[in-house]
Amino acid sequence: MGEEERIVAGQRLSGDLEVGLRPKRLEEYIGQARVKERLAIFIQAAAQRREALDHVLLYGPPGLGKTTLAHVIANELGVPIRFTSGPAIERPGDLAAILTNLEDREVLFIDEVHRLSRQVEEVLYPAMEDFALDLVIGRGPGARSVRLDLPRFTLIGATTRPGLIAPPLRDRFGVLIHLDFYPPEELEAIVTRSAAVLGCAIDTAAAREIARRSRGTPRIANRLLRRLRDFAEVRGTGHLTAEVVAAGLDLLAVDPLGLDPTDRRLLRLLAETYQGGPVGLETLAAAVGEDVGTVEDVLEPYLLQQGFLQRTPRGRMLTLRAFQHLGMTPPPGFLQQAGAPAGPTAQQLRFDEALPEGQ
Ligand SMILES: Nc1ncnc2c1ncn2[C@@H]1O[C@H](COP(=O)(O)OP(=O)(O)O)[C@@H](O)[C@H]1O
Ligand SMILES: [Mg+2]
Repeated sequence: MGEEERIVAGQRLSGDLEVGLRPKRLEEYIGQARVKERLAIFIQAAAQRREALDHVLLYGPPGLGKTTLAHVIANELGVPIRFTSGPAIERPGDLAAILTNLEDREVLFIDEVHRLSRQVEEVLYPAMEDFALDLVIGRGPGARSVRLDLPRFTLIGATTRPGLIAPPLRDRFGVLIHLDFYPPEELEAIVTRSAAVLGCAIDTAAAREIARRSRGTPRIANRLLRRLRDFAEVRGTGHLTAEVVAAGLDLLAVDPLGLDPTDRRLLRLLAETYQGGPVGLETLAAAVGEDVGTVEDVLEPYLLQQGFLQRTPRGRMLTLRAFQHLGMTPPPGFLQQAGAPAGPTAQQLRFDEALPEGQ
């Protein structure tokens, strides 16, 4: 595993051509009604005052539309957007160069904002708070600090791991937006919209089926749509019907709930080797041959949200539903345990989601 790309991975893959499918305006951005409503108000208020929008932190699993939303916000504000990421800003000087080149009210988008180094974060604090850059000139006893004014700008940070953001940085964001997995109706609307953009004919039932297997994630929905379009063009007439979609998804080994062989392998491993758990995250990661971060960010969120897996103080546990989905009988003794701790739902997994667990 690892070398081969998973079609149901939430993170971006090399073949994903997303630019054309990105909604540009808030009204084209499907779903997330509460998020859009709040944003529309903040954007309008900032525009009326001709001020920069407050700094925004977007967080949630990969593929749910954080980058898209950052672009939408800049578009709605009618300002340019500059794009960078935590790992790309290596030294404080790199950030200083970006900040001093911003235009008034411009949006600075920092993807993977949890990966900024401490030294770079130190530069960001006065920039976010006072729109100022503190420069130290010279070294040793003769060194002195000068303060440069910066244009007023809006920082939009995006992260899949809000728990890893240093509290002082987190506190400087005025608007916190949590993107959650999309319900099937919204994904269906996204598939229908994307099919129209791609100029591909699709039946309602086919769009619904793709939506159902897309793990609540627009990026996956769009990716499945593209692959199924290829399938339909080669095996059929190019028209996406429910039958073509079902046959194509079987070929891609994406099951009716959107689980792929990697997910099923993880669940089966927990079931067979660990009798359903609990098992510590590190042990589980080693057993599936992935690093802890991948298990937490990529593999687990959907399994948790679907109620296949639960987090307990003693580690990860399978649920009865997972045994049922695998067509397996839980081991004796599992049922008494399973009733006890209920795992958090995706809704509850906010800032606490990446906090260290006692296990
Ligand atoms: N609300 C939405 N409506 C329509 N398409 C969306 C929406 N959210 C995401 N997408 C699509 O999903 C893809 C992935 O979104 P992206 O913003 O890159 O996710 P993230 O940055 O959270 O990983 C984009 O190409 C975009 O077309
Ligand atoms: Mg992104």
